[in-house]
Amino acid sequence: MRFVFKPLLIIFLTVLISCQNEVVEKSVTSPNSELIVEFNINESGQPQYTVSFNGKIVVKPSLLGFDVKYQKALDKDFTIVKTSTRSFNETWQMPWGEQLNVENYYNELKVELEESSELKRKLNIVFRVYDDGIGFRYEFPEQDNLKDIYITEEHTNFNLTEDYKTFWIPGDWDIYEHLYSTTKLSEIDTENYKVNSALAQTSIPNKAVNTPVTMVGSDGTHLSFHEAGLLNYSGMTLGVDANELSLKSILVGSDNRDYKVKQTVPFNTPWRTIQITKSGPELIESNLIVNLNEPNKIGDVSWFTPMKYTGVWWEMHLGKSSWDYGMEKVNGKWTDTGKAHGKHGATTENVKRFIDFSSKNNIKGVLVEGWNTGWEEWIGFEDREGVFDFVTPYPDYDLDEVTKYAKEKGVEIIMHHETSAATQTYEKQQDTAYALMKKYGMHAVKSGYVGKIIPKGEYHHGQYMVNQYNEAAIKAANYQVAVNAHEPIKATGLRRTYPNIISREGLRGQEFNAWSPDGGNPPEHLPIVAFTRMLAGPIDFTPGIFNIKFDEYRKTNQVNTTLAQQLALYVVIYSPMQMAADLVEHYEANPEPLQFIKDVGVDWEKTTVLNGEVGDFVTIARKERNTENWFVGSITDENSREITVDFKFLDEGATYNAVIYKDGNDAHWNDNPTAIDIEKQTITKDSKLTIKLAEGGGFAISLLKQ
Ligand code: NOJ
Ligand code: CA
Repeated sequence: MRFVFKPLLIIFLTVLISCQNEVVEKSVTSPNSELIVEFNINESGQPQYTVSFNGKIVVKPSLLGFDVKYQKALDKDFTIVKTSTRSFNETWQMPWGEQLNVENYYNELKVELEESSELKRKLNIVFRVYDDGIGFRYEFPEQDNLKDIYITEEHTNFNLTEDYKTFWIPGDWDIYEHLYSTTKLSEIDTENYKVNSALAQTSIPNKAVNTPVTMVGSDGTHLSFHEAGLLNYSGMTLGVDANELSLKSILVGSDNRDYKVKQTVPFNTPWRTIQITKSGPELIESNLIVNLNEPNKIGDVSWFTPMKYTGVWWEMHLGKSSWDYGMEKVNGKWTDTGKAHGKHGATTENVKRFIDFSSKNNIKGVLVEGWNTGWEEWIGFEDREGVFDFVTPYPDYDLDEVTKYAKEKGVEIIMHHETSAATQTYEKQQDTAYALMKKYGMHAVKSGYVGKIIPKGEYHHGQYMVNQYNEAAIKAANYQVAVNAHEPIKATGLRRTYPNIISREGLRGQEFNAWSPDGGNPPEHLPIVAFTRMLAGPIDFTPGIFNIKFDEYRKTNQVNTTLAQQLALYVVIYSPMQMAADLVEHYEANPEPLQFIKDVGVDWEKTTVLNGEVGDFVTIARKERNTENWFVGSITDENSREITVDFKFLDEGATYNAVIYKDGNDAHWNDNPTAIDIEKQTITKDSKLTIKLAEGGGFAISLLKQ
């Protein structure tokens, strides 16, 4: 009997094994098993995915696909040809950053799809699942029936399961410089969004938000939606469906074309990302966005050193001086016709004052805006092509003398290229402009893209401009130039691949406090920014305003934080270029708080986020690279609160000389913003400190190891 059954058993086992071989792997789990992504094809052959976090579904089955020009949509009739999974784990080093070592640990699922209909087009979808979130992208492999592709819309859906508390800015195609709103997901109403930015250029074409958009759930789950590796593609906004509680990609378009992205197959889209954590602090610590980018492609960037900088900048925003000199265009040439108004800020003499001050105060850089001809016609003019040239200084600015003087004092001049969004002029002159910088030993440029994009019909966040920003940075690297763009495209972690992309604006910066008719940035602004915009990458916010009310310049404007909070921002808001933005005379009048700016690091070995709630408060500790010093910063919104710092992150057995810069007893962002108490004490790993933050306040601590 037993012999009769043996062959049957073998056949049975063989069938079982071959079935197992064909089992199509359609799910992938994070290394810690908390996150699961499942992929599927529905009855119509439409690709869809689901995400669950700790046993709870956070993204319900959500469709994926594209509308394209000249061909039928790429969104159904698919069959799965093959799936594969792999695990990846590496530790890479940031040349500069919030931390030195970054763990990049994920599990990947790759799904290869093919249409069953006659075109048989191929589309791969790759999911990477990390402990701190997921990323997925579309990969278009080489194939016969798809060569050039004209994407009219991408249909990436995120069907959510809760009416989250959401922190959002509208999906403006030109600027990110809006105040954040906090509403339920279902109450996002961008159509009625009051455009209160003096720089707003675009209506918001759809009921959409820009990313990162961050959400907090009733059980404390935190989600932030964004993208990584935005190269040769359009920026993605997210359309909101209030009834369905869902988000859907809406790519930024152009008035000049009836498609949004043109690409040549093979290519990959940017990663669509969701950071998913149990708390706000973990969102800030997440490295998902940089990890999803390719490793460094430009090699050594040690010619750029992270730095604090001062500059001829705030004085223009206050109206103390001007960018322009008062020239006129005669026969197409900027000419000094004797109409100089005497208010020009970037004079040799004034810049030397900043150089002297910086060199005395451990500040390495000096930014000079308004040094080159063209500022008479930079804003409000329709035709801005050919106005700026990036090499010709105004008559009262001696570039040779200034750079020589700076060098003697151990200071580096930071170049400024305001393109006024005249892209052709800038593109043509980049080589000359960067070569000039190289000649003078300047390694960082702040660029600006104020105004409507020329050519007309293009938008700051569309494919045309994405390529302008990225190509400028890639070209700059050839001249050992690092770029800090204002009015930029959003940060998507490209600093990993091109580490000369150092910082950018892309939010309502400090400048709004100087002149915005709506009263500037409210105290809750930065406690929201830390959990939204900052997840994308470094921010050139330009902190450090000591003269909070500046009544002598603008009676109706002020900074809406305390002085102690301005110090805290050097730690809380990350950038490898950190400005000490106030006027020299305001710092000289306040040597005690200035000591913190002198001491604080700007390049970090480690970062730990000690506590925080989105929109309310946040406390961050960072350890400086190449020293043993730590710095702590904490900021709050319009509410006063007590924060306890547990110093257990410090080295075992070490003692630190701490200086604590905190709000005075009766400090308040509006009533008494400059009241500050500065205390010294020694701190060890076992210490704990409870500190009161005023309304709109904060504290900063320097911990210098003995
Ligand atoms: C806007 C930038 O954000 C600001 O910092 C700069 O001063 C002006 N443009 C002029 O370029
Ligand atoms: Ca700006």
